[in-house]
Amino acid sequence: MSALFPRPRLQVAPGAVHVPGWLSPDRQRELVQACRAWAAGPVAMRAARLPGGQVMSVRTVCLGWHWQPYRYSRTADDAGGGRVADLPGWMVRMGRAALADAYADPAAGDDYTPDAALINFYDATARMGMHQDKDERSDAPVVSISIGDSCLFRFGNTAGRGRPYTDIELASGDLFVFGGPSRFAYHGVPKVYPGTADPALGLTGGRLNITMRVTGMT
Ligand code: SIN
Ligand code: MN
Repeated sequence: MSALFPRPRLQVAPGAVHVPGWLSPDRQRELVQACRAWAAGPVAMRAARLPGGQVMSVRTVCLGWHWQPYRYSRTADDAGGGRVADLPGWMVRMGRAALADAYADPAAGDDYTPDAALINFYDATARMGMHQDKDERSDAPVVSISIGDSCLFRFGNTAGRGRPYTDIELASGDLFVFGGPSRFAYHGVPKVYPGTADPALGLTGGRLNITMRVTGMT
């Protein structure tokens, strides 16, 4: 949605940068279509089960490597056993461009080759508790792209789930990158704002988030 007042690019913490409105509406629509296809297969989008037995409210499908709490594997052992779709070359290039823009350094993405992406879908009531992305054996940045309904995104510190943290709103088309000293910061999504997306995006409701990661797996 076009904001009445432009929302500025913001460094939330060292290495953690929010770039509002990074993707054009056309690019967002293309990503919605791509995500819809990935959600259908070869591995179906599903709500992952935590080791304690609880089922996540967010639904996830992966590219490149399958993630389940809390490990990566080539096959989706908790979701039918199939092999997940490849992470396309255009997404790697999008990740490189994201780093260049977020860090305002044309070379920042040159060595970045994400090999896994998690595509998360949040319905109106889904949320994600404070956690670290720490199942990767790499400290390369995480690139996060949001499409659809806006959400409250909480970006904290590397020491624990609590304060200090910064609350920001992630809207459709926004980019968020966390690397460097912020790579292992706790973060979460306490709330989705239903009905805030432009219906022309092609999503009937809810929020999509794509995170690209370097797993360090071989
Ligand atoms: C995640 O932490 O993996 C997803 C974050 C988000 O949905 O913005
Ligand atoms: Mn995360």
